Amino acid sequence: MSRIALLTAAVTLLAGAALAHTGATGVVKDRMDLMGVLDRAMKDLATLIRAPGETDDTRLGELAVTIRDHAGATMTAKFPEGSLHRPSEALPAIWSGWADFESRADRLRMLADALVDAAATGETTPPDASTFPIAGVQRLTEEQAREAPPSVLVAHISANCSACHLEYRED
Ligand code: HEC
Repeated sequence: MSRIALLTAAVTLLAGAALAHTGATGVVKDRMDLMGVLDRAMKDLATLIRAPGETDDTRLGELAVTIRDHAGATMTAKFPEGSLHRPSEALPAIWSGWADFESRADRLRMLADALVDAAATGETTPPDASTFPIAGVQRLTEEQAREAPPSVLVAHISANCSACHLEYRED
């Protein structure tokens, strides 16, 4: 495909994705809105973590609280059994694998809670990030999460979002 054709295809895909969500109603709309809040918080977190100089711990804490408060049971309550009406991209595997689905939502809560703590502590000499498990490859235990610096936690939170989508959302 030519470069122009590729670009056009990409733009069409994006437009399709945006359109697919108009017309969502009820609990499907509620959870799309919840996911949208998480998405914006993750984008802001990524920008914050990458910014040079001292991290703004107050803002870091606020974003971590936003994620924590939309995870766990708050998130899973928006997935009542069989709620698959269009334009939902949720997969039926959510309900056949409910315990796993729930544990991923709880794990997001745990990681975000550790980030709330890390922001409150504002470590002056953060531990060496390379000593922690690699995000997307290995999981942090809760004990490790409580010791991890913000950059490591943000990477693991992001990997947690993607891993759940891979299992339970249409691509
Ligand atoms: C426990 C599993 C799980 C976790 C954890 C999770 N998601 Fe989702 N997410 C889903 C499912 C399932 C859908 C599809 C919902 C639907 O279309 O009905 C979804 C949809 C989305 C959408 C699309 C919303 C829309 O308007 O269609 C975005 C954006 C999103 N998630 C972002 C995130 C971010 C960012 C995180 C992490 C901070 C996250 N999600 C964590 C399961 C999860």
